[in-house]
Amino acid sequence: MASRRDFLGTVSLAATGLALAPLAACSDESPPAAAATAPAETSFSGTLLKRTIPATGESIPVIGMGTSGSFEVGTDAASRAPLREVLKRFVDAGARVIDTAPTYSSAEDVLGDLVAEAKLRERLFLATKLSGVSGRDEGLAQFEASLRRLRTDRIDLLQVHNLGDTRTQLALARELKQQGKVRLVGLTHYREQAQAQLAQDMRALKPDFVQINYSPVSRAAERTVFPLARELGIAVMINRAFEDGRLFSQVKGKPLPPWASEVGADSWAQLFLKFALSEAAVTVVIPATSKPKNQTDNLKAGVGPVLDAKQREALVAAIG
Ligand SMILES: NC(=O)c1ccc[n+]([C@@H]2O[C@H](COP(=O)([O-])OP(=O)(O)OC[C@H]3O[C@@H](n4cnc5c(N)ncnc54)[C@H](OP(=O)(O)O)[C@@H]3O)[C@@H](O)[C@H]2O)c1
Repeated sequence: MASRRDFLGTVSLAATGLALAPLAACSDESPPAAAATAPAETSFSGTLLKRTIPATGESIPVIGMGTSGSFEVGTDAASRAPLREVLKRFVDAGARVIDTAPTYSSAEDVLGDLVAEAKLRERLFLATKLSGVSGRDEGLAQFEASLRRLRTDRIDLLQVHNLGDTRTQLALARELKQQGKVRLVGLTHYREQAQAQLAQDMRALKPDFVQINYSPVSRAAERTVFPLARELGIAVMINRAFEDGRLFSQVKGKPLPPWASEVGADSWAQLFLKFALSEAAVTVVIPATSKPKNQTDNLKAGVGPVLDAKQREALVAAIG
């Protein structure tokens, strides 16, 4: 498990100026008074922490977003309207990393349309996947469709989804990287049972990124994937930090722990995201939301201190 010192050690030199300012302003000794009491829907302020992608040295904001479920709304105008605001708040806060997949029904189309409409492509780090395909030709056709649906000519991170046809699809992703159509390549899964295979693939194939599930009730990554990612210099993206929303029912009606204000958190969501970020190996976490007020809430987790070892264990105990 990471100490706060370890965590700070992963912040790049380039990002240090940005990252240390909120940490210093929100130290354990003097948490900001307003943050302790403000309701979760109040506006975002501060500077998002950044962490470094080892493969490139580039630093990215630690709060990203997912699109599974939340962006699968098709062409329905009423359902797209709040997503426009979800995206606006995200970009206004300085966040960049958005994860999607061709197999999330209409998510790539909806995201592509909203990004193009607001002319946001250059400000974003777009991650999508080679998903459910077999063989190079199927993978390539799917990738080309993703470019069209996302209305872009390049993908920042192309990931092999759920370790399907891994070697062939990763080789394709690397080929596309050489052609300048993809900047980074990765492997993903969302279940702890897959992490032993993922670890083998990390050693053998050395992707730039892995994406895995991690939360206070799914901690397997601490044993293998996190240490390995640090050893091999692989960036880590966290999915399911809220267990697809189930964590909220586990804490329903429970008051926040008294120490939440010490880390500048005023919601359970922020504590769950800070839990993920308190692992030094974690580069970015991608909560999914369809609601602007929840987006602001999630973004606030990227400012101020993460959890120390005692707070992490207290959070796990509080969930029960
Ligand atoms: N590679 C893979 O195999 C894989 C698998 C699963 C997921 N993923 C990626 O990871 C992303 C995140 O995972 P996920 O979508 O499964 O689940 P998640 O982020 O753990 O949870 C999403 C749920 O949390 C709710 N929520 C979000 N912010 C909230 C807040 N501040 N307060 C209260 N509720 C909140 C959302 O509802 P509202 O819409 O009402 O806010 C939604 O129901 C996905 O979207 C996808 O991009 C990848």
